Amino acid sequence: MDLGLNKKKAIVCGASKGLGYAVARGLAQEGVDVAINSRNEEKIKSAAERLASETRQQIYPFAGDLTDPYFPQKMVSAAADRLGGVDILVTNAGGPPPGAFESIDEAAWEKAVDLSFMSHVRMIRAALPYLRKSKAASVLTITSYSVKQPIPNLVLSNSIRLATIGLTKTLALELGADAIRFNSILPGWTETERVRELMAPRAEAAGTTIEEEIAKQMADSPLGRMATPEEFANAAVFIVSPAAAYITGVMLSLDGGMYKGTL
Ligand SMILES: NC(=O)c1ccc[n+]([C@@H]2O[C@H](COP(=O)([O-])OP(=O)(O)OC[C@H]3O[C@@H](n4cnc5c(N)ncnc54)[C@H](OP(=O)(O)O)[C@@H]3O)[C@@H](O)[C@H]2O)c1
Repeated sequence: MDLGLNKKKAIVCGASKGLGYAVARGLAQEGVDVAINSRNEEKIKSAAERLASETRQQIYPFAGDLTDPYFPQKMVSAAADRLGGVDILVTNAGGPPPGAFESIDEAAWEKAVDLSFMSHVRMIRAALPYLRKSKAASVLTITSYSVKQPIPNLVLSNSIRLATIGLTKTLALELGADAIRFNSILPGWTETERVRELMAPRAEAAGTTIEEEIAKQMADSPLGRMATPEEFANAAVFIVSPAAAYITGVMLSLDGGMYKGTL
């Protein structure tokens, strides 16, 4: 199938590693020029060099913190200049820290709202003028299956990401008339550094290893394993592509059947 992505222009946030990197790579393999972002300048530059040499596409690194209210606007306008427009925006960042409700103070809630909700709002707001000019405009928010089934010890993620789902669906309804599509992918457990960070406190509390904690978690998974970042990227690349032109307002679980509800 031709996804229709050749020569399109994309911005992918949180892309020095993990899911964001895999999506940027998948897009570049389809002929997309990509602006990528993460906080660490050295890491995002080196990710861009790897992607450019592997895919022969133009890859532009932008170092900056998505929780800084002024960064998204600056980055989007600089990225749009370099790319010559924006057709696709993938909003993503690291997840908020683990912890049970009583361990989370006011400052941690505010920080998590900036990271897991306002970063999406600000990136989308900044990108809209460019997306309106595109003939293949598409936005993908990366959230979590925790919006359907809360994950133990992750009250910040379980709570705040629901706002991003509400945002994604609302924008699909509000901006469908402008031919801009909005979807979200809700990843389940996927082999990235984030998973090791989440399993470390569980292992410490249980006196086990990270590997043992991952195995315990996977015992609850119908497929019995975590996803690979490439499996996540395959779905992401399709859903933002012109081949998925009639898909909007979809919250796609990519969790190997981990969510046990029927709807
Ligand atoms: N992996 C999973 O199993 C899974 C499951 C459900 C949901 N998720 C969610 O999906 C998202 C991506 O997960 P992942 O596993 O790919 O995480 P990851 O491996 O920790 O990668 C996160 C990426 O975001 C960047 N980043 C973090 N904070 C940022 C900020 N404030 N501003 C700009 N960039 C930032 C990181 O680079 P720098 O450090 O250089 O900034 C890195 O490139 C996270 O929100 C995660 O919670 C993941």
